[in-house]
Amino acid sequence: MKQEVLKLLKEADGFLSGQSICDSLGVSRTAVWKVVNQLKEEGYQIRSVRNRGYLLDSFADVMTEAELASSVRSRWCGREIHYFPETDSTNIQAKRLAELGASHGCLVVADSQTAGRGRRGRHWSSEPGGGIFMSLILRPPFSPESASMVTLVAALAVSEGIFRSTGERVLIKWPNDLVCHRKKLCGILTEMSTEIDRIHYVVVGMGINVNTETFPEELDKQATSLRLLTGKPIQRSQIAASVLEQFETYYETFVEQGDLSPFLDRYQSQLVCMGETIRVLLPREEFQGVAEGIDPTGALKVRLRDGTCRLVVSGEVSIRTADGYI
Ligand code: BTN
Repeated sequence: MKQEVLKLLKEADGFLSGQSICDSLGVSRTAVWKVVNQLKEEGYQIRSVRNRGYLLDSFADVMTEAELASSVRSRWCGREIHYFPETDSTNIQAKRLAELGASHGCLVVADSQTAGRGRRGRHWSSEPGGGIFMSLILRPPFSPESASMVTLVAALAVSEGIFRSTGERVLIKWPNDLVCHRKKLCGILTEMSTEIDRIHYVVVGMGINVNTETFPEELDKQATSLRLLTGKPIQRSQIAASVLEQFETYYETFVEQGDLSPFLDRYQSQLVCMGETIRVLLPREEFQGVAEGIDPTGALKVRLRDGTCRLVVSGEVSIRTADGYI
């Protein structure tokens, strides 16, 4: 019921009378009053004026299950939401839920994480209110070899979701980062569980820096947030809903096609080092070349000095520009 009241308040053009909420939802005035008070406690600013009703202040950066559920417009992606005010890691929670049978498209989201995880065992800073920390559970029809492409689909979805909700154009640092002005805005951590030669589930974890204004000293030169980029406070739920909607569309196209060929132009136009000399750091080797985009499997095409093209598959890879950026 909280979610329904919130939706009515969001859709209202000005004040909404208590009676019209009661009529729409078939509940008592006391029940509406109680829900409005709960919403206020969660951080919404709702004005109650005698004889006029309730008015929701349009800016409230609340990230709860009801807020997300009233914002999400997708069909299956993020329709089932597990929200935690605080958790260890949404990826860990998502894996626990997936083991218990959670369905395709189920979303785990947290206001803060105590053990947020990045690639290669790194820590992901996850302060309350600062960012979006969410993980999607997928049960894909394709084989394990295709799973790494999901990270690229997610990167495109985050980039497009951010653009649609803020107008900000961000770039993709292959394979799993989003950057703006050469600073990191988002990281993606995709994990998979397999059974013999098929996928049991995939968890796509996304960490987006939204309202963070100051980063810990060690991250300050490398990280940015939407708040810092736009100069305005941002509603995390709007960004999350937009990303989920975009992910649903892109993922369906990807599954239908079986590879990333429908996305090559879009991806390449956003690839941060496109046409630049990069250094590729593999676990036991390092080499330089010019980034020429991706192939339909998501491998990075790197043109070597001798003119040959080397394909780099994601995994234990790290990319640096020739001047050492990121
Ligand atoms: C990286 O850049 O190394 C990937 C960072 C991924 C962070 C997100 S936040 C939500 C989800 N839960 C986690 O513990 N990690 C991912």
